Amino acid sequence: MSKVTVVGSGFVGATVAQLLADKDIADVCLVDVIDGMPQGKSLDMMQAAAVHGFDRKLVGSNDYADTKGSDIVVITAGIARKPGMSRDDLLKTNANIVQTVARETVKHSPDAIFIVVTNPLDVMTYLTWKTTKLPASRVIGMAGVLDSARFQTFIAMETGFSVQDVRAMVLGGHGDLMVPLTRCATVNGVPIANFLSKEKIDEMVKRTQNGGAEIVALLKSGSAYYAPGSSVVQMVEAILKDQNRLLPCAVLADGDYGLKDVYIGLPTVLGREGVKRIVELKLEKEEAELLKKSADSIKENIDLMNKLLVAV
Ligand code: LAC
Repeated sequence: MSKVTVVGSGFVGATVAQLLADKDIADVCLVDVIDGMPQGKSLDMMQAAAVHGFDRKLVGSNDYADTKGSDIVVITAGIARKPGMSRDDLLKTNANIVQTVARETVKHSPDAIFIVVTNPLDVMTYLTWKTTKLPASRVIGMAGVLDSARFQTFIAMETGFSVQDVRAMVLGGHGDLMVPLTRCATVNGVPIANFLSKEKIDEMVKRTQNGGAEIVALLKSGSAYYAPGSSVVQMVEAILKDQNRLLPCAVLADGDYGLKDVYIGLPTVLGREGVKRIVELKLEKEEAELLKKSADSIKENIDLMNKLLVAV
């Protein structure tokens, strides 16, 4: 049975752990610095297993040694956004946390594939890649699946069609500059422009870009976790089952889409080795410009993070 370590036993980490076990995908080691929290949540989930009847093991720990031999490491550790706080405000605090987590976990699982969830997402994924020194194909950020899920939800809500028939992909950074590919969004193959006005589509694009903040504002403390957790699990499953799914993920651009030295959301093929390849779509001029703008903003934050980390 595969083993997945989830670092951070907050709402996102716990949701990932529970879904992985409940869907019979992997055994889970849930790690946190808070004494008792991962142990308590894991024990609670094991007891849920008795009700649901799943055989996956969940272990909670404060010791990285227990993560040994993981197939996948999911990093959710860090502080969440508070209302009015941008993802980038989190930069310094979370960079220090993610650096420690990446360093400690890769020691015990040098063959693992890393999925990063901590914000600011693209920058933290870049930092994990730098810190672990793993091939970029094995360090992946979760954001595109979530942002696409949000866009798909809004399309379903506006058109009234089942969300099962809605497909859409969001590229770019996990921030206000993300790039929903509206012309590729369909309801069972039919482009959404057949059902929705341009104004309505523009409105949904904005709502998607603001999707995380909308939930932060409603919750008042903490940020989203059900859809983020589900999105991580879809990626884990694609990897462990070698599904070759075409999913937008934060990956290292190395000349792809004319971008270099930056982690950003691009269409990828996910399978057992991690990112099997980045799929190069022919973008329209405006889409390419928006993607470049998003990449520039991530690069600025990578530079800022490097300065902050040196200053520590
Ligand atoms: C969100 C946070 C998790 O988009 O980035 O909800």
